[in-house]
Amino acid sequence: MTHHTITVTINGARERLDVPSNMTLLQMLRDKLALTGTKNGCEAGECGACTVLVNGEPVNSCMMLAVEADGCEILTVEGLAPEGRLSPLQQAFVEHNAVQCGFCTPGMLMSAHALLQRNPRPTEEQIKQALVGNLCRCTGYVRIIRAVQAAAEEGGA
Ligand code: FES
Ligand code: FES
Repeated sequence: MTHHTITVTINGARERLDVPSNMTLLQMLRDKLALTGTKNGCEAGECGACTVLVNGEPVNSCMMLAVEADGCEILTVEGLAPEGRLSPLQQAFVEHNAVQCGFCTPGMLMSAHALLQRNPRPTEEQIKQALVGNLCRCTGYVRIIRAVQAAAEEGGA
């Protein structure tokens, strides 16, 4: 298997990594960097559990090769809470009981974070659109949408 050396900025830290051609960004984050907050749900681009931001845009990391991330800025759920302090959006998820098993939560947070970065006061419809690629099997979506609305009202992602 051919290997490539790539340089990526992950949660603000620059990393130089040796990755095989067929390694996905999801595998790189979880298996090579132990950033296991990003979840592996379907590995088929269907569930959104693996969502991370690449240059500020939500991406299913199971559908992107690590080598394609060369030169990119990547934000994972770990980057939302540097030094363990929850972001306003994460805090809103807790306060609005928007988490049950938590498996979908990192992906939901990343999609919602990207939305609030580009549109700090989204409508309910815009929140639904932003989360359309993130599936939740247990909480349902009402509390998740309320949490995003609350974070927007508080003025923070
Ligand atoms: S694990 Fe990537 S979309 Fe489901
Ligand atoms: S909280 Fe369990 S899948 Fe969403």
